[in-house]
Amino acid sequence: MLIFFRIYLSALILFLGMMMASPTVVSADKGFDDPNNPELFIPSQKTNSNWLEAIGPGQGPVRRSSTKSDVHEDVASFYHARYCLSCHEGQQNNLHYARTELICRDCHVSKPVAGIQNPIAAAYEDHRHEKVCAKCHEGAGAGMGSYVVHERPPWSEYTRNDFPALYWATVLMLLLAGSVFVFFMPYTTVWAWREIKHHFHNRHVKNTSSASGTLVERFTRSERWMHTILIICFMALSVTGVAWMYIETAFGKALVAPFGGADGAVWVHRVFGLILITVFAIHIVYMIRSALGRKKGHLTGPDSLVWTWRDFKAVHQHMAWLFGRRQHPVFDRWSWWQKFDYWAVWWGLVIVGTTGLLMFDSVVTTSVLPGWIMNVARWVHKIEAILAMAHIFVVHFFIESYRPSAFPLNAHIFHGAAELEALEKEHPAWVERMREEGKLEERIIKQPPKAVQFAFFGFGLAMVALGLLLLVGMMVYAVDLSL
Ligand code: HEC
Ligand code: HEC
Ligand code: HEC
Repeated sequence: MLIFFRIYLSALILFLGMMMASPTVVSADKGFDDPNNPELFIPSQKTNSNWLEAIGPGQGPVRRSSTKSDVHEDVASFYHARYCLSCHEGQQNNLHYARTELICRDCHVSKPVAGIQNPIAAAYEDHRHEKVCAKCHEGAGAGMGSYVVHERPPWSEYTRNDFPALYWATVLMLLLAGSVFVFFMPYTTVWAWREIKHHFHNRHVKNTSSASGTLVERFTRSERWMHTILIICFMALSVTGVAWMYIETAFGKALVAPFGGADGAVWVHRVFGLILITVFAIHIVYMIRSALGRKKGHLTGPDSLVWTWRDFKAVHQHMAWLFGRRQHPVFDRWSWWQKFDYWAVWWGLVIVGTTGLLMFDSVVTTSVLPGWIMNVARWVHKIEAILAMAHIFVVHFFIESYRPSAFPLNAHIFHGAAELEALEKEHPAWVERMREEGKLEERIIKQPPKAVQFAFFGFGLAMVALGLLLLVGMMVYAVDLSL
């Protein structure tokens, strides 16, 4: 157990270290960088009138040249025909430059280039929404002004000082994602090793669970529908989301092809996002209704997905089982990982759904909220989405498909039924309880036609394959995710 904890801790430190270290802050002007040098920097020009402004961008010191009407007057090697990026290396690290056809001059229009803090610059904060942004974002209001076009890596020291909201939102999300990975990656590895060992040990024992075929209903029709819709939405969102995230690469371009280009993919992403949010809202109503409609104590009862002390004990016992120290825990209706997955999706949807809605229409959002909310929303959305994909494609698929005792696919959630023998192995306490209450008989159902079973199986496996494809593509084409 101790060794497990050590692996956990060192992996967490390694992960966070990598996160902090990898993308260095690419400064536009190397050698002009010391924020404590009063010749180069003046204190922030920002006056915060409320807390919302105090956590937004612009808190850090400001480069002196920012206030000049010709920022390049002292720059010896500057002449107008020179390519901006030859000196402002890193300034192309922004969504607008990388994903649209914009060039620097589209936003930094004045000649000579005026500093951002100088009112003659088109991109001066107070009027940039109408002089720059509104050219493309029709109806852009003043709120748009505080959107940070040239975002620094959100976990950098620069962002911590200049834009606390983005820094802390990102760091919290990274901690959340990091601890889920760092817990589950070694966990599933040990688990796989344990099951493979067990599998080879028992390979001569005849597999009895196939033919006898007493089927017990495990999921209701509406639960199965919910899960299938969730899959379709999740996959459509993953494909289009990854496509947009990787649009600069051949992988991203291949993924957007079926949607007729990036705009089509983003559009499909929005539609499926809305469908998923609607389905989720319906699910919450269903949840509340079933919680109200039943007897007291049902929330902590064995049919409920609510975590109880028993589940924490089951985690502990399962860990001990992994190392061969204890018996496998006896599960009732739900195992702890099923409960975990349910709530992981639940909270994930809350996070991804809210930030997704905020990004749905940036003009509408920024008419109510400051523009920098868009920077925060995009980062939170992105990290949560990567976490969700990694968790589903690695951990969830491991549990329900890759590991020997589920291989090639546990299709219970699709046809709604499970073989009695399998349930007696996986959820013995539930079978026992149903027997005692005399409810087992009413749950026994007929085998669905072979063709239906085949279709379910094919669908499930196709989704597993698609998930793996995305995962591999994301790793092979690893891009600078700070875009
Ligand atoms: C020869 C290198 C060079 C080229 C080419 C160049 N710049 Fe600069 N630019 C600088 C340097 C150096 C500074 C910082 C000056 C200072 O700190 O006093 C600067 C400052 C700026 C600033 C103000 C920075 C701030 O903090 O407000 C803006 C805006 C800017 N450049 C935009 C551009 C654009 C747009 C182009 C292309 C048309 C361009 N630059 C081309 C070297 C260059
Ligand atoms: C979509 C409009 C837009 C485009 C395109 C754009 N900028 Fe900017 N730029 C801004 C805005 C707005 C600011 C104010 C600070 C911010 O939002 O990041 C800014 C700030 C700057 C600054 C001041 C330092 C900083 O990062 O805050 C420099 C230097 C700069 N831009 C250079 C460039 C160069 C070089 C390019 C081309 C690669 C470019 N910009 C493209 C809108 C744009
Ligand atoms: C030349 C056209 C053009 C200009 C000028 C422009 N944008 Fe954009 N902007 C786009 C395009 C294209 C997209 C990406 C497509 C989309 O998300 O709708 C985009 C996306 C955005 C987004 C959504 C980003 C996200 O995370 O989804 C925001 C916010 C935004 N722009 C803010 C601004 C601000 C602030 C300015 C002014 C400083 C500005 N834009 C100027 C074309 C432009």
